[in-house]
Amino acid sequence: MDLSGRVAIVTGSGRGIGRAIALKLAGLGATVVINDIGDASPAESVVEEIRAMKGQSMVVLADVSSSSDVERMVEETVAAFGKVDILVNNAGITRDHLLMRMSDEDWDKVMSVNLKSVFLCTRAVLNHMIKQRWGRIVSISSIVGVVGNAGQSNYASAKAAIIGFTKSIAKEVGSRGITVNAIAPGFISTQMTQGLKEDWIQEIQKRIPVGSLGTPQDVANAVAFLASEEARYITGHVLNVDGGMGGL
Ligand SMILES: NC(=O)c1ccc[n+]([C@@H]2O[C@H](COP(=O)([O-])OP(=O)(O)OC[C@H]3O[C@@H](n4cnc5c(N)ncnc54)[C@H](O)[C@@H]3O)[C@@H](O)[C@H]2O)c1
Repeated sequence: MDLSGRVAIVTGSGRGIGRAIALKLAGLGATVVINDIGDASPAESVVEEIRAMKGQSMVVLADVSSSSDVERMVEETVAAFGKVDILVNNAGITRDHLLMRMSDEDWDKVMSVNLKSVFLCTRAVLNHMIKQRWGRIVSISSIVGVVGNAGQSNYASAKAAIIGFTKSIAKEVGSRGITVNAIAPGFISTQMTQGLKEDWIQEIQKRIPVGSLGTPQDVANAVAFLASEEARYITGHVLNVDGGMGGL
């Protein structure tokens, strides 16, 4: 797979899965915009890693749940690199509680950062992709959005909605050379899963046919394929990257 000449935006790519996706796309030749929120230094270090590989990259700090921030991120990308070919909707958060203890804020925040962001970023890049009749949109859902999980009704709802969104937009833009797909990772070793108790992780591991948690690179490899020319006939698809777990 060769992504040289392509310009990609990866949201939430200062660390974890997003960072691995950014490095993978850059390794295949893409110019990559590193987006994150808050402290710029993790994102800056991803840019340095890409530049060390002789790639092009820059940081755009933006809150992907804010319409004006997202518009600015896409404008800055096009101003710097001339276009946007690939969007990876990766930024996400959890605010886990059983429903009886879930506040309005826990619900709204998870919906905004995990779901509204996908709508905002996709809408913002689509015009550019339609004009050039080529585009790749890959959104990171979760296996939890497919099978549900106690304590994560907000997160599971947002991740399930990403799947409905993906299938709908794939139908809207299929004739324009743009594919729209989602990836549903299982349990991946990142800061997001580091908070889980050790006995719970061991319990999960027993239910994963492959026998271990996934790595950010496992997800990045799947994103790279869906972002490539080779995947041109795959759209509206949800790809599980979950070691065969298929459910909790
Ligand atoms: N880790 C897993 O097991 C797992 C499983 C399934 C799906 N996912 C999904 O994969 C994605 C990445 O997860 P991760 O494990 O790397 O998480 P992480 O917490 O390590 O990284 C998430 C990144 O998103 C950034 N971010 C948060 N809010 C943002 C905002 N409003 N605007 C811009 N950036 C923001 C964070 O600063 C962070 O850099 C998420 O969408 C997550 O839901 C993770």
